[in-house]
Amino acid sequence: MDLQIFQETFLSYLKDQRLTKEPKNLYEPIEYILQLGGKRIRPILTLMGASLYDQDFKKALPAAYAIEMFHNFTLVHDDIMDAAPLRRGFETVHKKWNLNTGILSGDAMLILAYQYFENYEPVVFQQLAKLFSKTAIEVCDGQQLDIDFETRNDVTIPEYIYMISLKTSVLIGAALKMGAIVGGATDTEAQKLYDFGLNLGIAFQLQDDYLDTFGDPKTFGKQVGGDIIENKKTYLYLKTLELSSTEDQQKLLALYNTSDVDTDTKIETARLLFEKSKSPEHLKTQLEHYTKIAFEIVEQMKITDRQKEKLRLFGEGLMNRTF
Ligand code: IPE
Ligand code: IPE
Ligand code: MG
Ligand code: MG
Ligand code: MG
Repeated sequence: MDLQIFQETFLSYLKDQRLTKEPKNLYEPIEYILQLGGKRIRPILTLMGASLYDQDFKKALPAAYAIEMFHNFTLVHDDIMDAAPLRRGFETVHKKWNLNTGILSGDAMLILAYQYFENYEPVVFQQLAKLFSKTAIEVCDGQQLDIDFETRNDVTIPEYIYMISLKTSVLIGAALKMGAIVGGATDTEAQKLYDFGLNLGIAFQLQDDYLDTFGDPKTFGKQVGGDIIENKKTYLYLKTLELSSTEDQQKLLALYNTSDVDTDTKIETARLLFEKSKSPEHLKTQLEHYTKIAFEIVEQMKITDRQKEKLRLFGEGLMNRTF
């Protein structure tokens, strides 16, 4: 119920924001990616975070917008780095326009995101800007590790968890914490909310990896098998290496170290090896593990039982998604 209100309020705020129109090759791609939709998880979390401590959750709209703008910036650049053709069921920015457009429109989005914090008074502005800068650089760290892992054969599962906590979780934590800051929560509470987001974010990225390999192309909105094509060292891949026979290990390693195989065969072979090792089941167990930690943190928070229930429901919804 509340979720719908947060989403509608955010979407109407988004629609009201006027982006500069010229040069149109800079701003049209920004408009395009922002209007493509997406689940709007992060801005909803910012509004939700604020609503836990202040009835007037709308105060958090500029911060929510900044977070969604930043997230969309990371997607534009991520799609370049991952050579991804599809995003939210449509062409990615660098495919629809070109590489340079993707780079520069992305850069502009990062600046635009930052600008939205100027809507806040100095004390709040400083807290938000500080958290934002810390988070943004961590996302870059995570993205670089993700790329470095593509060409490494010795990545461990703890390294993978560290990488996804940087590229994905810190932003989910920050989205919630920004809401808490705007809502006037104590530092302890704001930090609890951040830690909740951090753990939820790990579970969220595990599910993203699962869907990338086993999702339904009709609903997923991204190229299914993209992680396999790009030799991403996902949980599925790493767990399969750990659990497989020596023969299957060699097969998987070879598959990820050659350009001599057509993509359909590569995807199919990797999928079969993943399934044979039961890695998808292990992934689900891990996902539940991090969700459980997130929910334990919720229990420690100084909010009403009803509010706790809302945070849990949101978390459960995220894990059962198909896109
Ligand atoms: C995609 O995020 C990038 C990841 C961290 C997995 P979302 O799955 O939230 O993407 P949209 O905004 O809903 O399209
Ligand atoms: C997303 O990782 C992380 C960021 C965008 C920062 P992915 O590369 O898995 O995201 P998708 O699957 O392309 O959305
Ligand atoms: Mg990607
Ligand atoms: Mg990526
Ligand atoms: Mg992905």
